[in-house]
Amino acid sequence: MTTWNLTQTQHHVLICNGSSCMRKGGEEVTQAIREEITNLDMDHKIHTTRTRCNGRCKDACVVVVYPEGVWYKAASPDLAREIVQDHLVGGKVVEDSVIYTYDQQQFAAPEYSESIVGIEKQKSKV
Ligand code: FES
Repeated sequence: MTTWNLTQTQHHVLICNGSSCMRKGGEEVTQAIREEITNLDMDHKIHTTRTRCNGRCKDACVVVVYPEGVWYKAASPDLAREIVQDHLVGGKVVEDSVIYTYDQQQFAAPEYSESIVGIEKQKSKV
């Protein structure tokens, strides 16, 4: 088990490796992101984590970037490399593939998002 020093980390990328995302190229997306980070010598600034299902399977393969709180859909290896180059290194969100962004209070789907809305979560009974 590895214990990374994260004191220089600027971004945390969650790459969905749940079953739906793995059927849609999750392994290739994971490898593309990690290879591009290494190629750009950004390993000390960008931390990646494979996750289980993120609850957006119809948008597979899902990639989430923090601290910005940007959720990407349908991440292909090419899009994965674009996310690293444009967003993580260049600071420009890859808008065509965004499903949600965080506005410091809640997540919202941008107007240009072509993502499905999804089903409502149960409201808690208090
Ligand atoms: S398996 Fe990736 S969002 Fe469900």
